[in-house]
Amino acid sequence: MQVYTINKARLWQSLMDMAKIGATDKGGCCRLALTDLDKQARDLYIQWAKDAGCDIKIDQVGNIRATRPGTDSTLPPVGTGSHLDTQPTGGKFDGVFGVLAGLEVIRSLNDHQIKTRHPIEISVWTNEEGSRFAPAMMGSGVVSGRFTLDEILNKTDVEGIRLGDELERIGYAGTEPVTGRAYKAFFETHIEQGPYLEAEGKMIGVVTGGQGQRWYDVELIGQESHAGTTPMHLRTDALTCASSLILAVQSIAKANKPGCGTVGFMQVLPNSRNTIPGKITMSIDLRHPEDQALTAMDEALKAKIEALEADTGVKIALTPIWYYAPIPFDPDCIAAVREAAEALDYSHMDIIAGAGHDACYVSDFAPTSMVFTPCLNGISHNEIESTTAEECEAGCAVLFNAMLTLAQIEA
Ligand code: GLV
Ligand code: MN
Ligand code: MN
Ligand code: MN
Repeated sequence: MQVYTINKARLWQSLMDMAKIGATDKGGCCRLALTDLDKQARDLYIQWAKDAGCDIKIDQVGNIRATRPGTDSTLPPVGTGSHLDTQPTGGKFDGVFGVLAGLEVIRSLNDHQIKTRHPIEISVWTNEEGSRFAPAMMGSGVVSGRFTLDEILNKTDVEGIRLGDELERIGYAGTEPVTGRAYKAFFETHIEQGPYLEAEGKMIGVVTGGQGQRWYDVELIGQESHAGTTPMHLRTDALTCASSLILAVQSIAKANKPGCGTVGFMQVLPNSRNTIPGKITMSIDLRHPEDQALTAMDEALKAKIEALEADTGVKIALTPIWYYAPIPFDPDCIAAVREAAEALDYSHMDIIAGAGHDACYVSDFAPTSMVFTPCLNGISHNEIESTTAEECEAGCAVLFNAMLTLAQIEA
């Protein structure tokens, strides 16, 4: 297989330039979905994509598509892409790498003066992180039909601001329909966000699927009362009960290896040091690569909540807000990634994605796979998230050559 190179220095420079938008003191990025900073990142990316000769379209949920035409306009595009939004304490690479690796593919096609039969298309998907507006992967989820457009436009953040209003405000409420998308194939490049590639000394993760997820909102109602006058046996303390629930989430995950369970968000009311907490709002995130085990985790959680209510008198409302079963990727796309890694002489291993990715939803309507690269100490969703120019080059080169296999070079 003939292999084609990308421009490592240009890719790295673009990553560093994009990282200035929302740069944090500790070297990360805070660019929450649909904020002014998200708009700035989108604007810069569109400028770069136009400079590379792409045609730009924005759909009704704010997804951006940048297309390099193929020689046969009747053929569906070979797609790639990821997201530009970040966690509140995010890094420089989660999501952004997948978008800018796509841009580097197009810039490299231009350098090599390669024409492809299929168009090449990069997507920036709206609100992948699910941090400001829950759940995650909204833009790709609307296009895949997992969510309706209206349901997503009506989501609100903790301040009650509507997603649809924010899209309008930043100028990204597009007109392109969210339905009817088709790809010949779709690949997403991403840092692994976990420790396995580094531990095994491999450069490339050939991603064979993504684990399933269940997200919940939880409300615990106890009784506010005086911290000094209420005897311990007469309290209905919502926070102590929430603490037991958090520990139960941890135990449930540990009992269902390799499942994960996390409480990442919590609000305590009235949050006053001498009043017993009366109301807690919190999130629960459960994940597992096997659906049966994810169901067992869900059942264990519900049973624990029933027991806690009986023991403590605290009322607990568990609202499931998101579920998707584990996603198997397409065998041909997986093979294209593996073959590209081999042809480029990169060490590689098969791996399952632990994080949520837009590719998981794209795989509903297109043959899909992903390319992973290592990140330092497996740390992500953290400002210190780190990777090297060589690792980015490797992931982008594998993406480029896998996409070329599917897009067919015009002789
Ligand atoms: C988001 O990045 C997630 O995987 O939860
Ligand atoms: Mn991501
Ligand atoms: Mn993320
Ligand atoms: Mn993610």
